Amino acid sequence: MTISKLPYQFDFSLRRHNTFGIDASAHAYLPVTSLEMLLVLRSDPDAARLQRLVLGGGSNLVLTQDFPGLVLHMCNRGREIVGADDDAVYVRAAAGENWHELVLWTLEQGLAGLENLSLIPGNVGAAPIQNIGAYGVELQERFHALTAIDMESGEILTLDRSACAFDYRDSVFKHRLRDRAVVLDVTFALPKRWQPALRYADVAQELDARKLMQPTARDISDAVIAIRTRKLPDPAVIGNAGSFFKNPIVTAVQRNALLEQHPQLVNYQQPNGSYKLAAGWLIDQCGWKGKNLGAAGVYEKQALVLVNRGGASGQDVVRLAQAVQADVMVKFGVTLEPEPIFI
Ligand code: EPU
Repeated sequence: MTISKLPYQFDFSLRRHNTFGIDASAHAYLPVTSLEMLLVLRSDPDAARLQRLVLGGGSNLVLTQDFPGLVLHMCNRGREIVGADDDAVYVRAAAGENWHELVLWTLEQGLAGLENLSLIPGNVGAAPIQNIGAYGVELQERFHALTAIDMESGEILTLDRSACAFDYRDSVFKHRLRDRAVVLDVTFALPKRWQPALRYADVAQELDARKLMQPTARDISDAVIAIRTRKLPDPAVIGNAGSFFKNPIVTAVQRNALLEQHPQLVNYQQPNGSYKLAAGWLIDQCGWKGKNLGAAGVYEKQALVLVNRGGASGQDVVRLAQAVQADVMVKFGVTLEPEPIFI
């Protein structure tokens, strides 16, 4: 690459930038702290030729090989209350802000609404891509709008909730805007008439155990942090990417047939009459919980989480994922779709 107005680094190790802790490298790497940097990048013909990967917290990524292109690591910072109306207080955060720190900051400001999403790894910019969700709340319910740059046209896009086409762990950024849009910041609408979201049994039980009958948002955050800490491995200690598979959605006919053979089948009816199955339960039933294949393994406390047992390569993770998928297919006839992005 000839011109270098930007602080590119070459043959850059991504090991500390993916929560799986996989040791792969990027041909070129750029920490992005401003929109201006992306505009300069667009005008650099050498950089424009390279394949791009936008990286946030690296918590939803499996690096199966060295990346031959340019990694754009979103590192822009800033969070502020930008307005309010009768219904909501609006908070804007830069893509490079850490998600959990944002949640805690909103709670410190006395703003409720994000508490059920406490302790989800990753950065703000990645949250809408995945439509992150946990314990009965999805990002889309608290989302107001986001700003992104279309790297093809150079246009600055403002997308509202409907333009993002959110669905279960899905959005327009995995389809039409894939490899095009780079999210710059996200604005959240935090409800003024807040109601605690307690429909998840795990959360209700934890609050009960703490004798909190009228929990505050802070209480719910504390409960979610406790549950997640018990069930999910800390990526700083054991490499992982959270839930490795989406919970599969099946028709009522399929679900009824499965239920006949497997009366314990964990399933949840969806608003449209289909059923979501607990992938963790399916994997657990196949005997994979706590098992390893090479240096990759299935977490002993939650079978939906694949982990790096130490020095796992992306290929180790892929082999394990395929073995798990094959067994679930044989036993239940159900396809498990991975949640992370494979590079
Ligand atoms: N289960 C088992 N064995 C297991 C794991 C789970 O039998 O090894 C059963 C549980 O007993 C429970 C059911 O499966 O009845 C569901 O398990 P859990 O409540 O732990 O939630 P999940 O469906 O496995 C989803 C999200 C998580 C989110 C939790 C809590 C997906 C793919 N995963 O997991 O999100 O934190 O609900 O809301 O939707 C993530 O996306 O990275 C993630 C961690």
